[in-house]
Amino acid sequence: MTEHLEWQVGNGTLDLEHATIMELMDALGHGIASYQVDRLRVVAGRLVSELSAHFSDEEVLMKRYGYPQSIRHLQTHDAAKNWLMTLERELDLAQPSPPAMTAILESLSAILHREWKSEDPNLAKFLKAAMGAKPRRAEEFPACPT
Ligand SMILES: [Fe+2]
Ligand SMILES: [Fe+2]
Repeated sequence: MTEHLEWQVGNGTLDLEHATIMELMDALGHGIASYQVDRLRVVAGRLVSELSAHFSDEEVLMKRYGYPQSIRHLQTHDAAKNWLMTLERELDLAQPSPPAMTAILESLSAILHREWKSEDPNLAKFLKAAMGAKPRRAEEFPACPT
């Protein structure tokens, strides 16, 4: 069972994405407990896609606004991506191991916990000051001057 993560960081867009990711993490935990491998593969695929899009949204904003702590933040994203790849490799096996998947999920959960408790609130605070209180999606921003 995954730990129930606190996901609100103070930015509307990021909070919505975190809520979706948290639901998928919970679904993975339930899928492991009941050993529904086909279902796990579907949910893991969605998690990879949602997390990739989410990290990409944050990384676009960091770059656009010159976020000074981006290197440390990107290390957190990379660590999460590595655990996702480990999970996908386990799910590619004919008989994925529930203890292995549980350990992977716990490691991923710990990284997301750090992201949502520390890195993302710092980013949200920076963005709020940089672009005003109204959260917008990355695509709504004017293009960067080249
Ligand atoms: Fe995030
Ligand atoms: Fe992040």
